[in-house]
Amino acid sequence: MNSSIRAHFPILHQNVNGKPLVYFDNAATSQKPLAVINAIKDYYEQYNSNIHRGAHHLAQLATEKYEDARKTVAQHLNASEREINFVRGTTEAVNLVASTYGRQNVKAGDEIIVSEMEHHSNIVPWQMLCEDKGATLRVIPITDSGEIIFEEYLKLLSEKTKIVSIAYISNALGTIHPVKEVIREAHKVGAVVFIDGAQALPHKKVDVKDLDCDFLGFSGHKVFAGTGIGILYGKEKLLEAMPPYMGGGEMIKSVSFAGTTYNDLPYKFEAGTPHIEGGISLGVALNYINEIGLDKIAAYEDELLQYGTHKFSEVEGLRIVGTAKEKASVISFLVNDIHPYDLGVLLNQQGIAIRTGHHCCQPLMDRLKIEGTCRASFAFYNTKEEIDVTVNALKRAIKVLS
Ligand code: ALA
Repeated sequence: MNSSIRAHFPILHQNVNGKPLVYFDNAATSQKPLAVINAIKDYYEQYNSNIHRGAHHLAQLATEKYEDARKTVAQHLNASEREINFVRGTTEAVNLVASTYGRQNVKAGDEIIVSEMEHHSNIVPWQMLCEDKGATLRVIPITDSGEIIFEEYLKLLSEKTKIVSIAYISNALGTIHPVKEVIREAHKVGAVVFIDGAQALPHKKVDVKDLDCDFLGFSGHKVFAGTGIGILYGKEKLLEAMPPYMGGGEMIKSVSFAGTTYNDLPYKFEAGTPHIEGGISLGVALNYINEIGLDKIAAYEDELLQYGTHKFSEVEGLRIVGTAKEKASVISFLVNDIHPYDLGVLLNQQGIAIRTGHHCCQPLMDRLKIEGTCRASFAFYNTKEEIDVTVNALKRAIKVLS
């Protein structure tokens, strides 16, 4: 990867605790290129205005940029603009589908399937729906290396299955799930599939038509855009049939006390003034990564993963948690019986940002019989030198803590 890429990310060029920052917390949130930072600044300096209803110049400009961003997202996912709904993030996308499609289609006795390694936001909304409807949440078990057991998944599928919801890539372990096969099998029993794309979008090309997923959610802030913005993709015929999520402005065609009619897609699911500059920043961020090329990004990150896996494994007492064959650039690890948080604190003292804890995956940690892990997650602006610096820092920290 061209080293000039790092120049696009001003935040990376600083010292933390007297040492050059090493940012390895990309699975939690990614850093923003100047193109994104400037787009947000330009919005407030040049054309801040509410969208869609304004006759004036600024409102028209803001509307154009916001809708351009929707077009960019649609093209990026190979979807139509009517299928692209702006939401706050992946969590809201899951909750939206559970509260609308779920409440409309799931009844007592039905089943919803998730995997054992989902993020809490891809578990709790389904639990709430099951509680509400008297349905049952079924769980695909995983292997010790962090892969779903596909034969067990097949056994769970039946005519009772209404929804299958699974991450494309695990945030905690980096496992890339065989989502295309998961979707194909779910469709055989008539279930719809929600894909949590939060960790996938920053690392690989995602084509909703090729996957044939029914819904997909992702968060802007993990894909180099601002926080508080994300996308729910849904197949048009499903979105058309779903009731609205929130009531308010924008999502209506007409309102009277005799009754209200709802707006066309995608506005039906976009009540209230949206996160305008967030949406615009998402379009800019996707254009930015497409300019670099997602294939190039994926290949380089794989190089970092292979290098990091090799280097981390050489540290005495270090055990990598999550060794799936198909992995994204995430390395979760434990060292002897050292608490992950203690390691995280000592690495921070050396300018290195990793994440420690359960990564919002408590059921996964229960399955692995651990409390949590240290997690280093790489983006395309990271380098092998940063991995070397981290390995040396780890060795020093382990000495202190042993
Ligand atoms: N889901 C985010 C993570 O994995 C916050 O860190």
